[in-house]
Amino acid sequence: MGKVTVPKIKKMKNKKMITALTAYDYLTARILDEAGIDLILVGDSVGTTLQGLDSTIPVKMEEMLYHVRIVKRGVKNALLVGDMPFLSYQTSESDALKNAGMLLKEGAEAVKLEGGVRIAPLIEKMVSYGIPVLGHIGLTPQSINVFGGYKIQGKTEDKAKMLVNDAIALQQAGVFSIVLEGMPEEIAKEVTESIEVPTIGIGAGRFCDGQILVITDVLGMDPTFTPRFVKKYRNLYKEILDATKEYITDVENKKFPSEEHVFHQKKETS
Ligand code: KIV
Repeated sequence: MGKVTVPKIKKMKNKKMITALTAYDYLTARILDEAGIDLILVGDSVGTTLQGLDSTIPVKMEEMLYHVRIVKRGVKNALLVGDMPFLSYQTSESDALKNAGMLLKEGAEAVKLEGGVRIAPLIEKMVSYGIPVLGHIGLTPQSINVFGGYKIQGKTEDKAKMLVNDAIALQQAGVFSIVLEGMPEEIAKEVTESIEVPTIGIGAGRFCDGQILVITDVLGMDPTFTPRFVKKYRNLYKEILDATKEYITDVENKKFPSEEHVFHQKKETS
């Protein structure tokens, strides 16, 4: 379908499921783009996946700018969304506008930030200044200290109602889509049916308008991370482990490099 844009994502609701994955580097982004993914998110999950952190809270703005910059080089058709890390938008409107603007200058076509009713006025301002925003509600990882851990949200009727209100407020503020994370699928369905912009679920069941997962989870790179909502399509952990062991054995036994991998001096003829 050629280049995916913000208006195209909006129009996909009830027509085509939105496919989305995270990426943090050029090469992975190039492969996802070639495969035809609709949306690539440079998520602050870079902290827990690539940096070995316990949460996304320490991730810095300059790190997000770096990852957006290198991912951008691999993306031709997918919509590229840059995540706003903790404290890059909560401190003031001007911080939010400046940081979001910098993500766009690095090549992001939209930004994502976590929160509902409370940050709707901020999002309205950002959109009015030409910054497309992807909302994110439910189990928002930047709030784990408030939730007391990675806990499924919206389990009670009151909390579910709050999620619907959050989604409506975000829609009114002008988001083009909303990520629904970590909630019962009945609630995600209710949210999805309550708004006109598409929802993209992660751990939010089957009734969203699209799905997003973290690339390292999809590829099975961490055998210690096995949440229910993830489907591991490959076991790259094992592939990389086995390949590294084979390499070690080959080098130790002088099997690598072999003839096909070496250069030879040219013989002088005269
Ligand atoms: O940071 C991230 O990767 C995310 C997705 C899981 C939605 O927020």
